[in-house]
Amino acid sequence: MNTFLPNDVIYQINYWSKASQPMSRLALEALAKDAEQNNQKHDITGVLLFGAGMFFQCLEGPSDKVIHLFNKIKQDPRHYDITLVSQECHSERFFSQWSMGFTRLPNPSESEQFKQIESWRSQTLLAAPIEVRRLLLSYATPTEGVLASCIH
Ligand SMILES: Cc1cc2nc3c(=O)[nH]c(=O)nc-3n(C[C@H](O)[C@H](O)[C@H](O)COP(=O)(O)O)c2cc1C
Repeated sequence: MNTFLPNDVIYQINYWSKASQPMSRLALEALAKDAEQNNQKHDITGVLLFGAGMFFQCLEGPSDKVIHLFNKIKQDPRHYDITLVSQECHSERFFSQWSMGFTRLPNPSESEQFKQIESWRSQTLLAAPIEVRRLLLSYATPTEGVLASCIH
């Protein structure tokens, strides 16, 4: 997208990717902490999920800032096969309380939600916005504040 949206529009993108190497607890903590600090400075909120070697991230905020950050994230060697699942405009944020909430998902065999993410691997852009929204909202409420420290 070359034309940026007005600043009061919340631009949201959701993508998944594969981790380049096994991610230790420490590496995940460092990633989540840096992301949280940077995002706070740039008015970006969202959530980062990690499970079975895959990331799923929602980034939301002013379109110019979200696009700039996503371009940086795409070049990060810690992951590859970055696949945009959806891009949407909203009047409000899903994750207004989180500069970057983070959680590590349970083993895929224990998590129906994670299986859903797996199934999006084969889908193209905008093929799964309803499932994405359902998943995101399940993290956005009602446990705000808990998710951010959920690294186990
Ligand atoms: C899966 C994943 C998610 C990331 N999410 C964010 C994020 O939300 N915010 C952020 O600032 N950096 C995030 N990063 C790190 C960025 O890729 C980049 O390293 C960081 O923005 C520092 O950029 P700089 O060197 O230009 O300061 C993420 C990296 C990965 C691998």
